[in-house]
Amino acid sequence: MRVHEKRLDILADVAILKKQHKTIGFVPTMGALHKGHLALIERAIKENEVVIVSIFVNPTQFNTSEDLINYPRTLDSDVKLLLSLSEDIILFAPSPKEIYREQITSNSYDFKGLENEMEGKFRPGHFDGVGTVLKHFFNILNPDKAYFGEKDFQQLQVVKKLVEIEKITTQIIGCPIYREQNGLALSSRNKRLNQNQLAVAPLIYSVLKQVKKDFGTKSVTTLNNWVSKQFKNHDELKLEYFEIAKVSNLKPIKRKQKNTKYRAFIAVFAGEIRLIDNIALN
Ligand code: PAF
Repeated sequence: MRVHEKRLDILADVAILKKQHKTIGFVPTMGALHKGHLALIERAIKENEVVIVSIFVNPTQFNTSEDLINYPRTLDSDVKLLLSLSEDIILFAPSPKEIYREQITSNSYDFKGLENEMEGKFRPGHFDGVGTVLKHFFNILNPDKAYFGEKDFQQLQVVKKLVEIEKITTQIIGCPIYREQNGLALSSRNKRLNQNQLAVAPLIYSVLKQVKKDFGTKSVTTLNNWVSKQFKNHDELKLEYFEIAKVSNLKPIKRKQKNTKYRAFIAVFAGEIRLIDNIALN
């Protein structure tokens, strides 16, 4: 496996690959790799001649310094996991300076309102940070395809808008959410959950599944109230938001319309750890 920390080194590697007309698949990550990441990487391996994985805890997308400091960093075990998939993966693990040079700041993006809903409301500036770092990565790596998990469905929609705005030719591929057997969506943040929190966290997906079941027959208000009730006075889990939104613009709805795709989105705190999930409703 080739591991690059320097922008110039990966640029040189990419230049050679491009000269050889190799197709490049890119899987951006913040490390603390889990089976969800591995599924993205496996798909990238199937669909491309070369796969580049980045591990970079991007400072500009965190809106509290505690969250940035506490984000799990497990580079050694990440490298082992990557090697278990393929020795041909190229790993790009730069420092913030390699990406941002002197100024660790983000661009201000207009993602046509996608950035203001849900995660955008609760994590101001988050999608500016995501857009900025991905623009850097796309510029450096010029991948043919890039792979993103649907657990961060809003991020996936934002990234599709980013490539449109920036006229980036990379094809953005959304991949299904990877879950534990008990339904908990895999996330690097799960590594921080204690035993009690791990035991109750599957409630999040059970609630989403019930909403999906009832979506055809119950009103949006009834469903919203029912979800709030499931977390009210819960010992371990605190609901931050639950929304049923249109897939096209991620705006929350009050009433369903015909021929429109909807998804339910949820964010829940288990202690200090923030977990998000979502489900397609129709
Ligand atoms: O989803 C993530 O892990 C991050 O937001 C990403 C896409 C790697 C950008 O830092």
